[in-house]
Amino acid sequence: MFELLHSKPLAYFGRGAIGNVDKVTEKIEGKLFVITTGGAYKRSGAWDAVKIALEERKIEYELYDKARANPTYENCDEATQIGIDIGADWVMGIGGGSAIDTAKIVSVLIKHPDKKTKDLLEDGFEVNDACQKIAINLTHGTGTEVDKFAVSQSDKEYKIGIGLRAFYPDYTIDDPDLTKTLSKEQTIATSIDAMNHAFEAATNANQNPYSILLAKEAIALIAENLRATIDDPQNSELREKLLFASAIAGISFDITGTHITHVLEHAISAIKPEIAHGTGLAVFLPAVVETVYPVMPELVSELLAPVVKLQGKEDEASKAREGVKEWLESFGINVHLGDYGFSGEDKKEIEDRALSRFFERQLEGSPIKVDRALIERIIEESF
Ligand SMILES: [Fe+2]
Repeated sequence: MFELLHSKPLAYFGRGAIGNVDKVTEKIEGKLFVITTGGAYKRSGAWDAVKIALEERKIEYELYDKARANPTYENCDEATQIGIDIGADWVMGIGGGSAIDTAKIVSVLIKHPDKKTKDLLEDGFEVNDACQKIAINLTHGTGTEVDKFAVSQSDKEYKIGIGLRAFYPDYTIDDPDLTKTLSKEQTIATSIDAMNHAFEAATNANQNPYSILLAKEAIALIAENLRATIDDPQNSELREKLLFASAIAGISFDITGTHITHVLEHAISAIKPEIAHGTGLAVFLPAVVETVYPVMPELVSELLAPVVKLQGKEDEASKAREGVKEWLESFGINVHLGDYGFSGEDKKEIEDRALSRFFERQLEGSPIKVDRALIERIIEESF
């Protein structure tokens, strides 16, 4: 038995989806608070369409363009205060995970003005209300535009993601033409993020046939189209396939959660916020694949079939790891903890963070029991 509950947002998906911005803005009542990271919201062309729609409907709005990559508690609290001061009724996030996650957090905190981001993410409280919200997605990685998760961090301490129904956007625009200005590095890193979402969702202790179905298709689409997209970044059809992969991987892990790779990535990018999420995941993915493989060889061999040919036998764990490693290297991604300046002295700190109370529930999603020895081994192999 499982609950066939998929994500909530009404997503306008596909080439030209930004043309539906008017259908979304017509829902807005009262003041709108727009949150973005600056740069990409204009460069992508999204802002031209949104601004016209807002002006035509005479919607009063305030623009906050200081959401940071790997957004901090301070960022979210600062944006919340502005939202409260202007009396925001609706919130719109334009960007990738950072802008949209900030918008999600702010949408809840505006309605709970005595609380801070730290209270929400670290301790939790009863969330009674949230501003309605819109996600205009500009990347093909996070899946945040269709899921209930938001991530923020206190630098040098913790990077924490939680899932709340109140975080779901009400409306989403997923237009592949808005992702064409992603750099080659962003194209690769965001697709690796989506691939990890799919892998961790399908291998999760909470998996069900629906999450597996979505994950398999997402990995296949990424494996089939990432190389071609790098070679032809302006190709809308290719971008659309990567965007679809990212959205269905997002729905897949919306159902199940993620596990070891995401926990470890959050541990290292809390210490070094300059680490791009996707490449941080790539550090651990080969070792995690090797760890998980013997537990569910048939499923993992099917999932990874577009990346590496495996028979589905238990003794292929190192072949699976090598296949994934080679696949990442084929995109120039060959990153280890040492490349980010970590040394043997940092191992314990990474371990402690990964095993902190904030990740207990997420690690329960691992298909193999997680203890200190297992985390230690993955960290060791990722140097
Ligand atoms: Fe992710």
